[in-house]
Amino acid sequence: MRKKIQLGVNIDHVATLRQARGGVNPEPLHAAREAEKGGADGITVHLREDRRHIQDHDIYALKKSCRVPLNLEMALSPEIVRIALRLRPQKVCFVPEKRKELTTEGGLDAYAKRILLKKLVPKFRKKGIEVSLFIDPLWQQIRTAAWVGAPAIEIHTGAYANAQGAKQKKELNRLRAAAKEAHKLGLKVHAGHGLDYENVKSVARIPEIVELNIGHSIISQAMQVGVRQAVKQMKRLMRR
Ligand code: PXP
Repeated sequence: MRKKIQLGVNIDHVATLRQARGGVNPEPLHAAREAEKGGADGITVHLREDRRHIQDHDIYALKKSCRVPLNLEMALSPEIVRIALRLRPQKVCFVPEKRKELTTEGGLDAYAKRILLKKLVPKFRKKGIEVSLFIDPLWQQIRTAAWVGAPAIEIHTGAYANAQGAKQKKELNRLRAAAKEAHKLGLKVHAGHGLDYENVKSVARIPEIVELNIGHSIISQAMQVGVRQAVKQMKRLMRR
């Protein structure tokens, strides 16, 4: 029987809101605890080179207190590699990074970076860190992931999430084919980016996919379902 699919909750945008005022609220650590209580199987954060949301102190605090595995999304820059090897999260996901992008646009060109990856992946594995490569659903990228010795890939679902109708079906078929190909090569298959309460269902049904990483839609939904309570609490305090 298929093992239950796992959910990694990306809490970057809790830190985005905190950084908007430069204070301490809302706390990513608190969000991680709540996510765990809701059933998150993992906590995912992206320590970006420009530190636009998650900060260095966040990753150390999360590593210390998360009960579920911490997955660090990271660029292949020497500085971030050094930090990740020191932190030793349970998992890392290598992602591409551009200064001006709003979010991770497109997968890592693992093929172009294959020599560097072949050197880096064993360094992480030696420390007991599971490595995945965030890649587009392309055969060359999938084969490269296997060639560099990565145990897992995370398939970029952005094109599927942004498409509609027949185009979305086509993108879904690309995800299915990529998941099958990767599984055949012995890779663990994760997926993520742009998944929400509607489009997640078809992706979660792909049998080879064992983990989804979802951030923006969950944090947005948390705002919706939590706003009423937050206003009530404030009003009660004001009128007491
Ligand atoms: N997986 C990876 C590798 C990502 O870079 C991101 C975005 O930070 C996600 C998953 C989550 O994407 P979203 O916030 O759109 O759910």
